[in-house]
Amino acid sequence: MTDIPVITTTGLTKVYRSGDREVTALDGVDLHVREGEVYGVIGQSGAGKSTLIRCVNLLERPTSGTVTVAGQDLTELAGRGQRANPALRAARSHIGMVFQHFNLLSSRTVQDNIELPLEILKVGRRDRARKALELLDLVGLADKAKAYPAQLSGGQKQRVGIARALAGDPKVLLSDEATSALDPETTRSILQLLRDLNRQLGLTVLLITHEMDVVKTICDSAALMKGGRIVEQGTVTELLATPGSELATELFPVTGEATAEDRTVVDVTFHGEAATEPVISTLSRTYNVDVSILGAAMDTVGGKQIGRMRIELPGRFEDNVVPIGFLREQGLQVDVVGRGAPQTPDAAVLTKEVAK
Ligand SMILES: Nc1ncnc2c1ncn2[C@@H]1O[C@H](COP(=O)(O)OP(=O)(O)O)[C@@H](O)[C@H]1O
Ligand SMILES: [Mg+2]
Repeated sequence: MTDIPVITTTGLTKVYRSGDREVTALDGVDLHVREGEVYGVIGQSGAGKSTLIRCVNLLERPTSGTVTVAGQDLTELAGRGQRANPALRAARSHIGMVFQHFNLLSSRTVQDNIELPLEILKVGRRDRARKALELLDLVGLADKAKAYPAQLSGGQKQRVGIARALAGDPKVLLSDEATSALDPETTRSILQLLRDLNRQLGLTVLLITHEMDVVKTICDSAALMKGGRIVEQGTVTELLATPGSELATELFPVTGEATAEDRTVVDVTFHGEAATEPVISTLSRTYNVDVSILGAAMDTVGGKQIGRMRIELPGRFEDNVVPIGFLREQGLQVDVVGRGAPQTPDAAVLTKEVAK
């Protein structure tokens, strides 16, 4: 991953009008996707995710705002006409798109489906065939070139969809719910394929999903959409380090309720191999406090090992400033849970430190 922006939208707005009804599907979206990252947009049905991805390749004309992909302002290229002009079409050939329902032509063989975008780009027959076979090999379907879509499983169809999306050597791949029609095991293998392509080809992937598991498995960064707006976005590490982040809570839930009124509940998050348990016992010994563990979880998020533990300390927050300070000094991320949790500059400083 680099810091070079590959997909940027500013103030992206889309209003659908039908008769006298208006639906604001996008409401001023500023999206920043960097080169080489897998970026997930998550949100409930109707949040505007599909509209966003269709505006990114100008399949849908934004009502206002701009879209820049790989340094080209697509909104400017598109001009005012409703039909794609040659400049826009050329720019779009560097944007691959994968669909939930694969969108393969049933009358064409697998190989001919992959060749289709190359035919449109007027690539010669031999080069098309060479490219298609190379891509089939890349997605693990070298032996299916002459098969028809109806002869393939869902996972295989999606592999063909991905190969087709890669035909124009895109810099970015857009995926709208590519795994939503697949069973969990096939989903995992398709996500792995996207991750491998991201790593091997340096391909930037912007994917839309309504499943938190997808974000957890392959995303470097994520955004949460609600009602046409992005309400949270950042790298997974940043999000996990942001107190009160809804995405972080859903990416990595720990539960557990305080056992009495005068208790302080604290979530301790640690990254990498660092184990919390010695720290917790040292805390207990040094300050002579009984620490109860209410809940704990370990997980791999964005390829990194992360652990989170919810602990309870006797007494109110004011009584626990020193032990909490001790935990922070150990380099652990500490979020005080529930009533009285201080959203102070203290928390903001912590966020910055962890994000490094
Ligand atoms: N072509 C369209 N015409 C009118 N309204 C639309 C159209 N496409 C989407 N919408 C509306 O825009 C909102 C966002 O839809 P969509 O982008 O499909 O959300 P998501 O993909 O997150 O489920 C919804 O309220 C939807 O009904
Ligand atoms: Mg959708």
